[in-house]
Amino acid sequence: MASSRSGFSSRLGFVAAAAGSAVGLGNIWRFPYETGENGGAAFLLIYLICTIIIGFPIMVGEIALGRHTQKDPVGAYKAVGGKGWSYVGLWGVISGVMILSFYNVVAGWSFGYFIQIAFGDLLSQPDFGAFFGGYVSNVFDFGNNWIMLYSVVFMLLTAFIVGRGIQDGIESAAKVLMPALFAILLGLIIYAMTLENAMDGVSFYLVPDLSKITLSTVYSAMGQAFFSLSLGMGALITYGSYISKKDNIVTSAAIVTAADFSVAFLSGLLIFPLVFSQGQEPTAGPGLVFIALPGIFEAMGPMAGRIVGGSFFLLLSVAALTSTISLLEVPVSYLVDEKKVPRKIAVPVLATLIFLIGLPSMLSQGGLDIFSAGGFLHYEGADKSFLDLVDDVFNTTGLPLGGFLLSVFIATRWKTKGMAQEILSGNESFQGSGMHTFLNLMITIVCPVVLGLISLLTILSKYFDVNLIG
Ligand code: TRP
Repeated sequence: MASSRSGFSSRLGFVAAAAGSAVGLGNIWRFPYETGENGGAAFLLIYLICTIIIGFPIMVGEIALGRHTQKDPVGAYKAVGGKGWSYVGLWGVISGVMILSFYNVVAGWSFGYFIQIAFGDLLSQPDFGAFFGGYVSNVFDFGNNWIMLYSVVFMLLTAFIVGRGIQDGIESAAKVLMPALFAILLGLIIYAMTLENAMDGVSFYLVPDLSKITLSTVYSAMGQAFFSLSLGMGALITYGSYISKKDNIVTSAAIVTAADFSVAFLSGLLIFPLVFSQGQEPTAGPGLVFIALPGIFEAMGPMAGRIVGGSFFLLLSVAALTSTISLLEVPVSYLVDEKKVPRKIAVPVLATLIFLIGLPSMLSQGGLDIFSAGGFLHYEGADKSFLDLVDDVFNTTGLPLGGFLLSVFIATRWKTKGMAQEILSGNESFQGSGMHTFLNLMITIVCPVVLGLISLLTILSKYFDVNLIG
């Protein structure tokens, strides 16, 4: 059976694709602004802890479940847990659709920045904050930086790669794109460190003020860890279903986790020195990389700015592309495996549908008042945009909830024995190792308790205005 199903050609192929899924806008766009809004180094610390004790064990669990069942998330939960549990997989598939719907919008912004910096006049704008505000709200004027076009192109690229399948599409794209990203990040950091006041940014980022840790720091960090590692909705169940029984799941998951954390960490090390050297606020929110970075590229001079700035946003787009691929692959694998829809049909249908579902998010940054902050959405004591809502429900709330359900599923249904059995294949020394004990403890006790509490408190405070702690 395993041989009739297509899969990754090698362990490296899987690691590149899974790291490609993990590393994306979440690391370079979202992580720095979340860190900036949540107190800097204190957030980084909590984020690191969430990654190691919760994210990594959940990742191992997802990959093991996928490889064990050789199925999409719905099929995987159903195979081990029966019909009731398959709804958890379905929630994951729906989350994939919803997260991709807004992810593609932001990916479109990045792609547009690449075009406009490399070939247009973005760097000669007088005020990058004002420019960004106008840019994201322009959904209708197609004469001038029409962001809808960028998002359409992005979805087409995603669909093209997913349509080609696992090895020729997903795997070969990731193997080239990932190393390039690391190289340009390192180059930019070295440059950023030479700027005036760069060290203020470094200390904001690396010297923690523990008094800044509140419950909201913890749930933001947990949401960020799940989003960044692509956990909680079955993306890694899906990718796990394409790997060989000879692969060592624990090592692969460790490499993916480390790569993801490193890129996030390095992005912070790039952005905060830049922000402080420009005298800007780290709390600027989602506009942070789009507003702070152009200033630095402009200061490099017109030609160098075009090249370095263009490369940066090209690579950001590329990182986003290896992530949109994995988001689309989840609902595609569901239709292919469960509904026997041919891949060639599932891909264009889903891509179109998801693009349409993303339109209100695209319009929510000033394009249409009703969907924008100050329109009809108001919760958590604040005005929210439609994009905020989708992000809050499916990402910040939904992913940790998905992780909670996976850990409960493994603890009560599949059992840690079942999981260990799967991990043993490709990793004979796992039985009785320290890693074995660690994973059992995390999956059966720490993950259910911590993720259950976080999910509950997040839901209460976000949607019911009940704030139990801090
Ligand atoms: N991890 C990606 C990022 O950091 C986003 C992503 C891709 C994702 N696939 C996912 C998030 C699956 C959650 C679930 O940009």
